[in-house]
Amino acid sequence: MASTQIKTVHAREVFDSRGRPTVEVEIACEGSRPGRAIVPSGASTGVFEALELRDGDAGRLQGLGVRRAVENVNTEIRSALVGRDATDQQAIDQLLIELDGTPNKSRLGANAILGVSLAAVYAAAEAEGTLAVEQFRRVWSEHQPDRPSSHLTSTSGLGVTQTLPLPMVNMISGGKHAGGNLDFQDYLILPVGATSYPQAFEWIVTVYQHVGQLLTKAGFEGVLVGDEGGFGPKLTSNEQALDFVVAAIEAAGLRPGEDVSIGLDVASSHFHHEGKYRLAATGDEELAASDVINLLEDWVNRYPIISIEDGLDEDDWDGWKELTSRLGSRVQLIGDDLFVTNKERLQRGIDSGVANSVLIKLNQIGTLTETLQTLRLALDNGYWPVVSARSGETEDTTIADLVVATGAGQLKVGSVARSERLAKYNQLIRLSENAEFGYAGGAIFESLS
Ligand code: PGA
Ligand code: ZN
Repeated sequence: MASTQIKTVHAREVFDSRGRPTVEVEIACEGSRPGRAIVPSGASTGVFEALELRDGDAGRLQGLGVRRAVENVNTEIRSALVGRDATDQQAIDQLLIELDGTPNKSRLGANAILGVSLAAVYAAAEAEGTLAVEQFRRVWSEHQPDRPSSHLTSTSGLGVTQTLPLPMVNMISGGKHAGGNLDFQDYLILPVGATSYPQAFEWIVTVYQHVGQLLTKAGFEGVLVGDEGGFGPKLTSNEQALDFVVAAIEAAGLRPGEDVSIGLDVASSHFHHEGKYRLAATGDEELAASDVINLLEDWVNRYPIISIEDGLDEDDWDGWKELTSRLGSRVQLIGDDLFVTNKERLQRGIDSGVANSVLIKLNQIGTLTETLQTLRLALDNGYWPVVSARSGETEDTTIADLVVATGAGQLKVGSVARSERLAKYNQLIRLSENAEFGYAGGAIFESLS
């Protein structure tokens, strides 16, 4: 076996699926080829996320360049990392956190730090001649609980073995991902009745094709897609999107609610101003948190909705508590902007009975180790983790390998169009050929009524 001692660290500026600059890092161990990772980037970012360092030089790429982050990797971080063991992920991440020295990674940039944190995994894979999924598995095995929990939670069984995820896939896009055509950001499907990953994926693709055809037939934009590949029609109401998704499930010969359920990412922080929720795209309504909860509850009563993300604003803890007591036993309530993959914020949610699920996005927190700590905290407290891509993505397939390696149970990547999305889905198809990997499926929601 080759040495796992880091020999070279090199970053460069590359471009993501929106044509925005992002950081790519290559790390090589002594005697092996480099491993590589590319950092994703959000558009509907939470204000509590770790800081994505951009150049802010208006004369170049509208200030979005990442040359400073690249430079930080190629100087300070490189000096600190050369000679370290690429397989000692926790030590590498701790070193990066200390080197940066700020609470939100604003000095070196979370994009610089995450690129290095992930490239170390790929460098170790090259050095040891193993697959990425095996390396992520090795790192995750360092985050096992000291002893198994004695009480059953809704996430018992998750996080234990390598498992293909239940995918949560965007059909119709709105909000910041589709030019503000709809107020709500994602209308998704979850193929809860499928018994294998390949079957789940075929159902999703079939429903997606029907969504496009039904939209076109009804005179809407059934070919134009948003940042994550979901259709971006200019509908007359937010609810109309649900009707199209239900109709498409039926047109695919599947049963809404039994075979395929619906998920929403309300992304409400992005239409929340001064205590009010302003629905502007499809009318001109100003709602209080209680009105939004009533609306969501009404939808849950009338549509086969099983999952709602960011139903309320990222700092509306009281509203979230009410939302959770009203709907938390019936649907998965995911905190994305609310928790930002941050274990302190998730702990606050756990302590105050807020949400029952957390979106897991590596670049919200900035290192693999911290991401896995948040994932562990969620599982130990019965919160479903949903590993997620960003709206700005690349060919990097880290999250596909990570979700299988950790057995987290769910993955949210966007839709089944645009190859930065398909890169992940196709990686999952490859991983699904491994007969030793299980499939999470809809059974993970058994505790919901
Ligand atoms: P973002 O969107 O990557 O633009 O933040 C994804 C999400 O809100 O889940
Ligand atoms: Zn979200």
